Amino acid sequence: MAGGPVRLISAGRLEFLAADAATGERLGRVGLGPRGDGTAEIGYWVDPRARGRGVATDAVRAACRWAFATQGLELIEWRAEVGNVGSRRVAERAGFLIEGTLRKRLRRHRGVRVDAWVGSLLKEEMP
Ligand SMILES: CC(C)(COP(=O)(O)OP(=O)(O)OC[C@H]1O[C@@H](n2cnc3c(N)ncnc32)[C@H](O)[C@@H]1OP(=O)(O)O)[C@@H](O)C(=O)NCCC(=O)NCCS
Repeated sequence: MAGGPVRLISAGRLEFLAADAATGERLGRVGLGPRGDGTAEIGYWVDPRARGRGVATDAVRAACRWAFATQGLELIEWRAEVGNVGSRRVAERAGFLIEGTLRKRLRRHRGVRVDAWVGSLLKEEMP
């Protein structure tokens, strides 16, 4: 892995692959789920071999900047299961304000409902 900056490759209307800008190696994914009301929910995943070197933070920042600039969004929401500290840290590093805990708001395997942390990034807060 060359460790260059992250480049986003379109993989759908609001879906991207995160690739190493120097080598093209696929490092992860980031996607936005639009709700049709000027808001969208973000999700991301990084290959275990590429974790811990800022890939998710870079990819989330780039995707949010692009989405605010081109998709008419006013707010991007982040949700993750309570305890997913890595996801929360990425959201915070990308500028999201953690707003609280939503009870039983996520569905996990076999339909089990779990509590979720929720946060948001406003267009005017885009770093
Ligand atoms: C969460 C995930 C996306 C992080 O990806 P990453 O590229 O390793 O994250 P970054 O390198 O950008 O890390 C950003 C910050 O988060 C911290 N962090 C990352 N993973 C962490 C973990 N498991 N526990 C604690 N902190 C973590 C880093 O130390 C860094 O913090 P710092 O700026 O204070 O040093 C990755 O572990 C993953 O894909 N997990 C499984 C899927 C998932 O949970 N997705 C999120 C659901 S929305």
